[in-house]
Amino acid sequence: MRRKKIYEGKAKVLFEGPEPGTLVQYFKDDATAFNNQKHGLIAGKGVLNNRISEYLMQKLEEIGIPTHFVRRLNMREQLIREVEIIPLEVIVRNVAAGSISKRLGIEEGTILPRAIVEYCLKDDALGDPMVTEEHIAAFGWASPQDLDEILQLTLRINDFLNGLFLGIGLKLVDFKLEFGRLWEDDQMRIVLADEISPDSCRLWDVATSEKMDKDRFRRDLGNVEEAYQEVARRLGVLPEA
Ligand code: C5P
Repeated sequence: MRRKKIYEGKAKVLFEGPEPGTLVQYFKDDATAFNNQKHGLIAGKGVLNNRISEYLMQKLEEIGIPTHFVRRLNMREQLIREVEIIPLEVIVRNVAAGSISKRLGIEEGTILPRAIVEYCLKDDALGDPMVTEEHIAAFGWASPQDLDEILQLTLRINDFLNGLFLGIGLKLVDFKLEFGRLWEDDQMRIVLADEISPDSCRLWDVATSEKMDKDRFRRDLGNVEEAYQEVARRLGVLPEA
């Protein structure tokens, strides 16, 4: 059966789901970087990110973080709740890397004095510009109450994921989250949406500092598929060949 496509992004496609209020999230192998200027394919990435994100969302649900995840359907698809995406990328940084190093001249690898949360507007045409709470409130992208809830959830997610990754020898350098609004019985809830995977996190091997994430693609470091596989293997979710 061909399902109706709702939205196609850079790394994922959303299809109409089997029941009202659900969607099917399909993970592609496509990779993009530098605001879409660099394109490529990472063979098998979609399969791995589907599993990795499933695992992490389930673990987060277990500690009481509400997410859009329902269940994995097959190798590349998962069933999710349909949410109204809040147009913000919430970035958490534990160690300096990427754009904060460039912007503020902090050497990559410097441990930050505390976790730093940044907000960017989800807008490809504008290159996802960083925005402040003032912009978010003034333009109504999220109410101050919603943003407070998002920050509390984000900090809990960071604490939990730091420990989870450390347990498998990976340092969670930084990552990006997206949230959505879900209505149930006239009540609105903020839930974690999108995905958590090596596409959206920086993960460094604790022992060797080797990069195990999308920076291998961004910076042409090679062994991109192998790095994603290794993250899946350490999490215990590597599909059998
Ligand atoms: O590029 P930057 O250093 O700001 O990225 C911080 C973190 O957010 C990285 O883990 C990166 O993978 C993630 N990110 C993302 N999607 C974006 C921007 C950043 O997943 N559009």
